[in-house]
Amino acid sequence: MKFDIYDERKLARQLQIQKKKSWDFDKDIHWEMGIDLNKSLLPLDNNRALFPNASQEELKVISQLMGLIVASTISQLEEVACKLKVPVWEKFLNKHPVNPELFALGEQFFEEEKKHARTFKRYINMFASEVNIDPDDLSSILPSSENSSIEKIYTLNSNMGGMAMWWLISAVEEEAILFYHFLHEVKDSVDPLYYQIHRCHFEEEVRHKSYAQMMLEVHKEFESGPVSQMFKKVDFITAEVLNMTWTFKQLLKVKKLKKYKNHHQFFATLSKSIDHISNMSYYQLMHTLFNSTPYISHTLHLSEHKHVKEMLSRYKGLKLPIPSSSLGDIKCIV
Ligand SMILES: [Fe+2]
Ligand SMILES: [Fe+2]
Repeated sequence: MKFDIYDERKLARQLQIQKKKSWDFDKDIHWEMGIDLNKSLLPLDNNRALFPNASQEELKVISQLMGLIVASTISQLEEVACKLKVPVWEKFLNKHPVNPELFALGEQFFEEEKKHARTFKRYINMFASEVNIDPDDLSSILPSSENSSIEKIYTLNSNMGGMAMWWLISAVEEEAILFYHFLHEVKDSVDPLYYQIHRCHFEEEVRHKSYAQMMLEVHKEFESGPVSQMFKKVDFITAEVLNMTWTFKQLLKVKKLKKYKNHHQFFATLSKSIDHISNMSYYQLMHTLFNSTPYISHTLHLSEHKHVKEMLSRYKGLKLPIPSSSLGDIKCIV
């Protein structure tokens, strides 16, 4: 798939569409609906690999926790991308000013990501008040980029001429689009507000997902020195390693939720549910996380997403030599 970074008319037209179709944080999201705690958030896998003996009530809260983890992951990574706007985008395009249209499209891209991060964050805060907990306490058990070294490493990579952040953005966008499709299949059993947020997010992601690929194209066209050649090979691996280590670190936080079990039934049921995991051996847990846990397995296998695969072959990038999974076999319909 080639993106024509020189077709100014096409780029201007894309910007026009993005601006026209852009949704409004206050007016287009029906925040007043509130959250329906009787509904699930994300569909779980048929095999219930991680929680084989969970009751219906437990499955519902696990689905809600998974929904919050996914919302927080998307929001945190979008926030990191926006914080690194200058090193990963502005400086890079100032060095290679392809055309003003590509620049304007980038401004729109970051505006949209900022709004997405804020939207998912607001949902998480609303959920916190539903389950009788301070929003900061709920955030403390969910994925967060704060106090992690990822911002520094991506900035360093970018200052040295790498594009690891754009690889990550591209992979996470493809993932968010896939998760929306899972959600759409079970729309009626999902909290309507959660569905609406993902629907709005999906629409803008589909419209702007080519931007990360355009940045990789600029890099391919304009950066040809030996250092850049090296980064072209290893940038994706950098993103993969950082993403994998960050994901595992973030998942460990879930154990802390037990201390809120007296705040709300949501936490009481979740506390019981995570005891199922404690009974698993380390090997069994790792194997399940890597291969059969929806959302988590998808994020641990970034290189298996269709467009990422195509780009790795186009830019001759390397990926970690981890065994390929059978992500396609994970069906999320319950
Ligand atoms: Fe987004
Ligand atoms: Fe995006």
